[in-house]
Amino acid sequence: MRFEEYARMSEPSLVARCEELKRARNAVILGHNYQVDPVQRVSDSVGDSLVLAQLGADSDAELIVLCGVLFMAESAKILNPAKKVILPSLSAGCPMADMITAEELRNFKAEHPGAPVVCYVNTSADVKAESDVCCTSSNAVRVVESLDADEILFVPDRNLAAYVASQTDKTIIPWDGYCYVHNMFVREDVIVATAAHPDSPIVVHPECPPDVIEMADFVASTEGMVRLAAEHDSLIVGTEIGLIDRLKRDHPGKRFYPLSAFAVCRNMKMIDLPRVVWALDNEEHEIVVPDDVRVRAQSALARMLEC
Ligand code: 13P
Ligand code: SF4
Repeated sequence: MRFEEYARMSEPSLVARCEELKRARNAVILGHNYQVDPVQRVSDSVGDSLVLAQLGADSDAELIVLCGVLFMAESAKILNPAKKVILPSLSAGCPMADMITAEELRNFKAEHPGAPVVCYVNTSADVKAESDVCCTSSNAVRVVESLDADEILFVPDRNLAAYVASQTDKTIIPWDGYCYVHNMFVREDVIVATAAHPDSPIVVHPECPPDVIEMADFVASTEGMVRLAAEHDSLIVGTEIGLIDRLKRDHPGKRFYPLSAFAVCRNMKMIDLPRVVWALDNEEHEIVVPDDVRVRAQSALARMLEC
């Protein structure tokens, strides 16, 4: 069926068609915590970048529908070369991942000979292929600590790099990238949210600027925030607002407040339910990673998964 036909269908009909197609195609839907609520609800698993990479590595489905951004689909393909991996919208890129190219990384390495490279999973397959090891926001400190080196190049997120530097004695040499969603949080957001909800602790993502991080009670990846939500009656959540849908679904009786209602990743929202069902039906858009890049990128991802 064409996309226009799916766009006209009601949500219950789309959900029913989605289940039917999943069975017919032996497909699994993996959704990131920032996806819109209807997409999270049809996903077989919802999680952060680390969870999605691990699930991708373990899946026995023949078709993986990655509802997230391009680097997540590439990671799933790198870890599952024999499977078909599709991303429902090719407009779902991550602007931070695009802030460093493989050539720029090669030049950065040449300026710091001998220093190993830790690349955030929010990077292209080409950049992963030039890196020693990947990390996500939930294991970045552990990955850095695992390296037998005092000086480490960390790309592309300068805010995550600063957070890691605050947690280790190693010297972290950052790339100057950032996430346009998390970099937007400011100290005033924390002051206003704390005044409005004085009994709620604040958790922020390590992609936030250092002066915001230092005011928070907790720093966590999106899945770390899911775990914290289980331990608290309410939380002020300093990340993309899609996560709030997940938290409310998991804990209907609890209260979750966005640190800023403007924290929307437009790229993550390029995928909606009609697009997911259309993608499943047409097995579009297939993600391909050339073999020479895939093998080197796989080693950086595998090294992270062993950490
Ligand atoms: P998580 O791995 O914490 O879900 O973060 C992914 C991401 O893109 C954050 O902006
Ligand atoms: Fe990229 Fe930021 Fe969107 Fe995450 S929230 S996908 S880092 S732009």
